Parts: sequence; structure tokens; C-alpha cells
Amino acid sequence: MSTPGGPERTDVRLDGLGGLRRSHACAELRAAHVGESVAVAGWVHTRRDHGGVIFVDLRDASGLVQVVFRPDAEAACHARAHALRAEFVIATRGVVERRSPETVNPNLPTGEVEISVSELRILNTATPPPFPIEEEVEAEEPVRLRHRTHDLRRPPLQRALRLRDRITRSVRAALADLDFADIETPLLAKATPEGARDFLVPSRMHPGSFYALPQSPQIMKQLLVIGGVDRYYQIARCFRDEDLRADRQFEFTQIDLEMAFVGVDDVLEVLEELTARAFHDALDVALPRPFRRLGHAEAVARYGSDKPDTRVQLELVELTDVFRESDFRAFRGAVEEGGIVKCLPVHEAGDLSRGEVDRLESFAKKELAARGLAWVRVTADGGWQSPIVKFFSDAERAAIAERSGARPGSLLFFQADAANKANHVLARLRQDLGWRLGRVDGREWDLLFVVDFPLFERNDRGELEPAHMPFTAPHEDDLPLLESEPDRVRATHYDLVCNGVELGSGSLRNHRSDVQRRVLETLGYGKGEMERRFGFLLNALDSGAPPHGGFAFGYDRLVMLMAGGESLRDVIAFPKTQRGQDALMESPSEVELAQLEELGLRLRRRGS
Ligand code: AMO
Ligand code: AMP
Repeated sequence: MSTPGGPERTDVRLDGLGGLRRSHACAELRAAHVGESVAVAGWVHTRRDHGGVIFVDLRDASGLVQVVFRPDAEAACHARAHALRAEFVIATRGVVERRSPETVNPNLPTGEVEISVSELRILNTATPPPFPIEEEVEAEEPVRLRHRTHDLRRPPLQRALRLRDRITRSVRAALADLDFADIETPLLAKATPEGARDFLVPSRMHPGSFYALPQSPQIMKQLLVIGGVDRYYQIARCFRDEDLRADRQFEFTQIDLEMAFVGVDDVLEVLEELTARAFHDALDVALPRPFRRLGHAEAVARYGSDKPDTRVQLELVELTDVFRESDFRAFRGAVEEGGIVKCLPVHEAGDLSRGEVDRLESFAKKELAARGLAWVRVTADGGWQSPIVKFFSDAERAAIAERSGARPGSLLFFQADAANKANHVLARLRQDLGWRLGRVDGREWDLLFVVDFPLFERNDRGELEPAHMPFTAPHEDDLPLLESEPDRVRATHYDLVCNGVELGSGSLRNHRSDVQRRVLETLGYGKGEMERRFGFLLNALDSGAPPHGGFAFGYDRLVMLMAGGESLRDVIAFPKTQRGQDALMESPSEVELAQLEELGLRLRRRGS
């Protein structure tokens, strides 16, 4: 393994590049170059010694080419080739030769040729790599993150960073064409209400006061538009101290935009154009347009989710009204508590064994906090097999059969619970079973706008909260309901969903201070607190705010999806680990006492 303090081979004499300038990238070389003298540079990928002939696979950012050191070539050069080890950095000059037919490597774009080397410069030695620099490695992620400089040399990460760059270029070009101005907003900012915990930065000049790193540039972009900027955008870093998951980082990037004098259609048109161009420019994919629009209520009713993967052909069925008066206590009880009963019918489900159904039930209980997972299997002769069928009345059974389309071979899964939970469980089953049983249409990309979200939602204590944030404008038609029936008020909020992932969200904003005040009042803000927290915004609205709206793409998620990755960590150069640490530079870290003193801070032992 590696020697602390530096490479173990200190006996190797290192060269400078001298006059050796690269003529080609490694992976560029083809049969057409045979006979040419070329110079390439990169890392020693592998070294093989075949009876005095030394073969090196040389790797640079473009890929691999084989270089050969023959004993009859320049003697000093050949001798020095013995010293080469994996990941040494070298530059070579030589002549491109055609490989003999039996040594052609069809798996490599450069596999028909090799470079017969006449000059070798060893630019640097290297400690032995902790894992091979290959497409796939067995090393666990923490090891890869600790050795990120090695990890970044692997093709998947090289590809992901390149893809990210292609998308950035495409988006910037498209936004420039649409006359958006790229404007930076402060990172040392004030808390913004995006619903997560803030990262705080202590102020030295104002001891006891803190900046907050922005959870998004939301307020600042609104202030910009009020300040006369017609179309703003920024590829903006956002900070949210929330539980990390595969699709969540503390620090992430948004493609953030805001426009003056627009309605929902104007914004969605821009979003569609940006997305379609990015897919075209970065992946050469022509997305079908226009993107589908789906109402929030319909999305939840049919798919149990506000970010459905509509390639999956299974749909949920509503049964709440059927069980309102039922003798089946588990179902009626849920309805009495204000919950719902829904069913996921899966037809031709003969492949799903009893054992698998049991496993689904325990998965739903353990992982999704379901109360249970009731099911009915319709047998070949039309009979209903199920632990709960004895509780159903004939009328209930007829209603279930009619709505679910149950027929021999069908398997019906039921949830009776609070709406959020029941939908969550069935949505997850729908997605998992849909893919497992191949009930998907053939599309690779499923992009849709989910529109007309509710403005408010209720927390566990039954209190109103903003469904997204308090600046979202209500639907004009629903304004009269704001105080009387807030649960029914629709928002001008929209999400862009791709393959079941929320790619981004946005809305029209309250540009009239009277409406903004009414929304804040409905959320329970008293006059004093409203002024204290949002006074600057209300004043800005009163200074002559145009109607405005915008959106933010979760950029890392977009790249992750387009790269076919499973985790944001696959498309971010230096991501945080699951535990929120930078494994390479080891942050967060302790600081000097003097630094704390300067900031007027003192650490307390936990619990004291
Ligand atoms: P929102 O909070 O929905 O909206 O964020 C927009 C998009 O950002 C992505 N995202 C994240 N990506 C990685 N890690 C995270 N921790 C994380 N949190 C969010 C998601 C999400 O859809 N200011 C509003 C936008 C607006 O209304 O214009 C906002 O920030 O893909
Ligand atoms: P029990 O009567 O509790 O034994 O439940 C009978 C069947 O109904 C079991 O398969 C449970 O998993 C299922 N079940 C119980 N409660 C619920 C519920 N709230 N929603 C869906 N299924 C349930």
C-alpha cells in the first residue's frame, strides 16, 4: 500500500516536459495515423513485460492507447520503462504502428494501433492506487470518496463531469437566446424560508449575529425583478442542512430563474425549451413536445404521488366511499379518522407468489410504516382468495370488482390510512411492481409538468403550512377562499417531473402586498412578526412590484438522471458523504480557539 509521506519509488529520476508537446489525445489514434510520429502524455494504466518488450496502456482524459518499448529501440528509454508503475505520469514520443491481426483489441477504439516509443519522459511517480482506475470498481464509496483524485480518473466520473459541462453550456446558451441576464446574489445572506435548516456563518464585526447561507436565491431574485430586471438567471449554489439521501446534498446547485410580467404558461414554455435543448445538446435526444401537464389532484388520485413515473402503466383506484359504512373495522376506522381507502390492481399477476406478496407486506410495514397490506387474489375460476374477503359485503365486493376491473389472475393491494400515507405506500408498490413486472411503456424519458398544487398543507398537529413557501401566489379564482377554506386554495405552483424524480419547482409569486399579507395571516403570522420577518419584502412589493414568477431546476438531479446515475454523488466532483463530511479534506473540522474568540463564540460541552 501507499507509503506515508510520498511515493515509495524515490529512486526514479524525474524529467520535465522539455520540448515534448502533446500532438494527440491518447484515444484519438486510429489506423489512419499509422506511420506518423506522435507525442502523447498521461497516466500508466497498466504495464506488462513480455520477454523484454514492455507494453504500457497509457491513459489520459480521452481514454487509452497502447505504447510499446522494444529492446531494439533507444536503450536508455527501454531501461527506464522498467521503472514505470501504475499511475506514474509520463509523456512519450513514437511512431504509430499497426498491430498484428492477432493482437488487435476490438474492445478499444485505439485497438488497431500502438505507439512504438523512442522517447520517454517520466513526469511524476505515484503511490500505488487504492483501487483500479476502471469503469467499475469494487471499492466501497467511502474509500472512493477518500481517494477522490483516483476516483475522478475513472471513466464514469470523467463522463459525468463532461456531461454536466455540456448541459451547463446548453442551458447558458438557451437562456442567453431568451434574453436572460446572469446575475449573482450573495452567499452571506439572511435566512430564506425554503423549509430546511440554515447553515449559519458567524459575523466577526457583529458578535452574536449570523449570516445564513441561502437555501435558494428565492427572495433575492424576487427583489431583482422588483428592481427592474426583466429576466434573471443564475447557476446558484444552495445550502440546506437537512437529512442527506441519495438525491439530497447539503450543498447543491440550482438553475434558478425569474421573469417579470408572466403567467404560468410563459414560464412553462421557457422551462420546456431549456429542458428540450439540454437533452438535445447533451444527449442528442429529441424529447416529444409539448410536455404533458397533469393536475396535482389527478396525479395523486391516479398515481398516489405528485411526481409520478407515468411510464408505469398501473393506476390506483379510489374506494373510500365504499368503506364508509363497512363492517371491516380496519377500513371503516381509517375512513372515520379522515383517511382514505385505495387499491392498486395488478392484472395477470400470476407470477407473484404468495411468498412474494408476504414479503411486500412486510416491506410495506417495515420500510413504509404501513399499518398492513391487505390483498385479494382472483383465482382462475373467478374466486377471491384473501385473508380479508370474509369481511367484505356483497355490495363492497361488487364495487371493488367494478372499479378495479378485477378478473381471473388479478391481484389487488389495499391501503386504508391517512391520505398521505396510503398514497405513499401504494405509489411505491406501483413503481416497484410496475418495473418488476414490465408494466411500462417503452419510453426512456417521461417528462411532465405537475400543476395546480394546493397552496397550503397541514402538519402533524393539523396546522396550516405553506405547501412550498409563503411567497407563492394563490390561483386568482381561489382568492375568495383564502380565509374561509384555505385547504381548497390552489397555488400557481408547478413542478417539472422526470422519470418519477422532481427535477425542479416554481410558481408565480405574490406581487401585491395585500395578497401576500393575507397569505401570511392565514399561516398564522401576527402583524408584528410579519413586519419583523418579511417587512423588507412587503415594502419592496409596495415599491411597485410587477407580476412575476420563476423556477429552479435541481441541477445535480438533472445531471444525475441524464447520466443514468443513482446518486448525486456520482455527478458532483466533491460531494459530501452520507454523514455530511468531505472525506478528502476532512471537513467539517475543529478550529483554533483564537478564531472562536475573534468571533465572540465559546464552545459548550454537550449537555452542559
Ligand atoms: P425547491 O425548494 O423546490 O424550490 O428547490 C428546487 C429544486 O432543487 C432541488 N433540490 C435539491 N437538490 C439536491 N439536494 C437538495 N438538498 C435539494 N433540495 C432541493 C430539487 C428541487 O426541485 N426557490 C424555489 C424555486 C422557485 O420557486 O423558483 C426552490 O428553491 O430538484
Ligand atoms: P388484521 O385484521 O389486522 O389481521 O389485518 C388483515 C389484513 O389486512 C392483513 O393482511 C393486514 O396487513 C391488512 N391490513 C390491516 N390494516 C390495514 C390497513 N389500514 N390498510 C391496509 N391493509 C391493512
